[in-house]
Amino acid sequence: MVNYLITGGAGFIGSNLAAEVVKRGGKVSLVDDLSMGKEENIIHLNKKRVTFYKKSITDHDFMTNLLIKEHFDYIILLGAVASVANSVRMPYETHEVNQEANINILETIRKFGLNVKKLLFASSAAVYGNNPQQPKKEGSAIEPGTPYAIDKFASERYALTYGELYQIPTVATRFFNVYGPSKIQIRRIQVFCQSSLTA
Ligand SMILES: NC(=O)c1ccc[n+]([C@@H]2O[C@H](COP(=O)([O-])OP(=O)(O)OC[C@H]3O[C@@H](n4cnc5c(N)ncnc54)[C@H](O)[C@@H]3O)[C@@H](O)[C@H]2O)c1
Repeated sequence: MVNYLITGGAGFIGSNLAAEVVKRGGKVSLVDDLSMGKEENIIHLNKKRVTFYKKSITDHDFMTNLLIKEHFDYIILLGAVASVANSVRMPYETHEVNQEANINILETIRKFGLNVKKLLFASSAAVYGNNPQQPKKEGSAIEPGTPYAIDKFASERYALTYGELYQIPTVATRFFNVYGPSKIQIRRIQVFCQSSLTA
């Protein structure tokens, strides 16, 4: 069975991705400290296929042991202080989560020669800062103007450079505004509509 790790797995994107992994027959470990994510986002997922760790990705010993023990095929790095405003309020704590924790994961893969099929790092359109060019392209000028954007850009470079230097298959994607209903929100709306109709 294909084995996935999703950091930030109880968040918006991570929980939807976990549901998709399960739907496609894979199994997945989710690491999330629930600072922003919610257990209710993942509670409905098949427990035989989903293992949830309420842990911080800044716990390097925990992450290293998990990576060595589980032999993940695919690693999706979504765990982050995902708010630009919070990164401005707490730049160093953001850096520990948004950059150092990701380097620790890359370094563990390198040091222990872990056989990962692909590691994906979730970067952000925030790296373009106030650059007015539209539409943005991969080659557009980078003007990271917040701790969030700086760490996203550095981490994507780390992911790609570890790929080139140490032959680890990595990719970085710059998400723009990801939106849409989560399953839990859809269920809440359904319950609300049902109770409104019967009231
Ligand atoms: N949603 C968007 O529009 C968007 C745009 C650009 C980039 N991104 C990036 O995509 C990723 C997922 O975004 P999202 O919208 O699902 O955000 P989200 O806040 O819902 O998910 C991020 C998750 O990371 C978790 N997290 C934070 N610190 C952690 C830590 N120390 N250890 C473990 N988990 C921790 C949070 O609890 C949360 O569940 C993030 O890296 C974000 O920066 C999102």
